[in-house]
Amino acid sequence: MEEALRAAERQLRDAGVPSPRVDAELLAAHLLGVSRGRLRALALTGAAAPDGYAALVDERARRVPLQHLTGTASFRRVVLSVGPGVFVPRPETETVAQLVIDRAAGLDTPKIVDLGTGSGAIAAAVADEVPGAEVYAVELSDLALAWAGPNLAPFGVHIVQGDLATALPEHDGSFDVVVSNPPYIPADAVPLEPEVAEHDPRMALYGGGADGMELPRAAALTAARLLAPGGYFVMEHAEVQAPWIAGFLEQMGRWTTVTTHQDLSGRDRSTSAVLAGGEPTTTGEAPR
Ligand SMILES: C[S@@+](CC[C@H](N)C(=O)[O-])C[C@H]1O[C@@H](n2cnc3c(N)ncnc32)[C@H](O)[C@@H]1O
Repeated sequence: MEEALRAAERQLRDAGVPSPRVDAELLAAHLLGVSRGRLRALALTGAAAPDGYAALVDERARRVPLQHLTGTASFRRVVLSVGPGVFVPRPETETVAQLVIDRAAGLDTPKIVDLGTGSGAIAAAVADEVPGAEVYAVELSDLALAWAGPNLAPFGVHIVQGDLATALPEHDGSFDVVVSNPPYIPADAVPLEPEVAEHDPRMALYGGGADGMELPRAAALTAARLLAPGGYFVMEHAEVQAPWIAGFLEQMGRWTTVTTHQDLSGRDRSTSAVLAGGEPTTTGEAPR
């Protein structure tokens, strides 16, 4: 097995896969139905590579996303089913979910909505980590919803098919938290990684308009509509968009606090704001 892992690692490195050894191990672990730790132990004992391993490595070398090959993506404590037609959740979005969880922790029965839920990653993580939360998830894509449905069912999340610009009008002014990781890539910024360019749905990537800001702006306007006074909005965006998002929120004149947040590598990747017109509904903690 170790020899097969080394050969796979070389093949994946030559193909430009960013983490060739990890992917080589995870693909073998997936086929054997064991953890990566157990796989390493098996490799040390001289076990044979599993059937079908070479074919799976070939697919990864063609830059099919690892998560499409294993059929799963880990997001915080949740394991989501993913595949063609749905955006693969990213590690940096776990930081955005953390902001939601921190904010909701001080509330009794927080009402939270995830706009553009994709696989359901943020909604599932929040429902999992905030006991008593009433969580909604909005998504327009039929294909994404086919993945989100089974992912969110165990968590009791309310799934709503619709446009995030107009969703949930019957809930106006009632949410404690609105979170979104909307599409935000500018029209002419074609992603370099084949996993993204060829496998993430276009609808999940491009935000609309030359600056990619149409859907982020729509999400901010919807947040101002859906939130109760003092409610909290947090949205992921590209690093370059941080000042534009902050400027747009300031110009709306509806928010008391606009704060840029960094991801784990220190990049300005999300912005939060508190809706004016009421005291923050936390237990006294300053808005983040
Ligand atoms: C960047 S992906 C994020 C998915 C997920 N929230 C995550 O963080 O992994 C954006 C999602 O928004 C959805 N979307 C795009 N336009 C939308 C719209 N107008 N209304 C609702 N959802 C939309 C896409 O289908 C996609 O699932």
